[in-house]
Amino acid sequence: METSALAHRLSSRFVAGETLPDALAVARRFNAEGIAVTLDHLGENVTSCEEAAASRDEYSRALDQIQAERLNATVSVKLTQFGMDLDEAVCRDNVEQLVRVAAQHENFVRVDMESSAYTGRTLALVTDLHARYGSVGAVIQAYLHRSEKDVEMLTKKGIRIRLCKGAYLEAAEVAYQRKADVDRNFVHLMKMLLQSGVDPAIATHDEAMIAETERFATANKIPPSAFEFQMLYGIRRDIQKRLVSAGYRLRLYVPYGKAWYPYFMRRLAERPANLLFLVRNLLRS
Ligand code: FDA
Repeated sequence: METSALAHRLSSRFVAGETLPDALAVARRFNAEGIAVTLDHLGENVTSCEEAAASRDEYSRALDQIQAERLNATVSVKLTQFGMDLDEAVCRDNVEQLVRVAAQHENFVRVDMESSAYTGRTLALVTDLHARYGSVGAVIQAYLHRSEKDVEMLTKKGIRIRLCKGAYLEAAEVAYQRKADVDRNFVHLMKMLLQSGVDPAIATHDEAMIAETERFATANKIPPSAFEFQMLYGIRRDIQKRLVSAGYRLRLYVPYGKAWYPYFMRRLAERPANLLFLVRNLLRS
């Protein structure tokens, strides 16, 4: 699937290109519009330590290039891409090496959050590396019941958080199942984060969540410099433009690389209308 001719057409909607130069070109373009980016080299659940080391090296090159070109860009990584399923010590070492590079460049590594099977281990690793280097932050998913406690714990330690709804299929024991409940928790956590003063990122395309954030910030005199919105490359360009012209900070999550299939499937699953996009493209091929 990832190498077929159809693949390119499908993936290009959500993915910036296959190589680091492709991603850097996109970063330059968005920076020129006043939009920051975070680069995601696609690839998760690697199956060998060599692949995990290759991911680390790719990200390290990305940080070096960002520094060389003085781009307004960070990186976002997944622990399963750095070997979490193979050997936790190897994974930890890979992430540590990258966070050290980020600290040298005064840049930042965001550790994406994967399924709830990884939440505890991911936050433990981020907390440990943050204590030693700074330069690393976490992601909290509003659908998880545990998230309020995690927000309290992380903000107390001064660890920056990206708040999102959550993109994995989770059981009712660990996660809210109804959109209304997820949204209610998102708003609750957004308020905690904006009041924390730890430079949070509010990551959503949901206009209601964005409006609540704007309202809460204005009512509590929290300036736009104290937080940022984040959105995914290729989704809701209209809202992106509006936020930037209204003076908000915006960072786009820019995925690149060849291993786009799992990322693409999560984006399709988020929105039934995207299936029409898929079917139209399949019929055209
Ligand atoms: P919701 O799903 O309610 O969608 C609201 C509206 O946004 C839709 O009506 C539609 O207009 C638009 N929209 C949303 N998704 C779309 C799509 N795929 N295609 C087209 N339009 C779409 N998740 C996770 O588990 N771990 C992580 O680390 C991250 N990281 C992350 C970073 C950033 C910057 C963002 C924006 C998101 C994530 N996510 C994530 C994904 C997140 O959990 C969630 O699945 C998606 O953002 C979709 O949820 P919304 O908040 O956009 O709302």
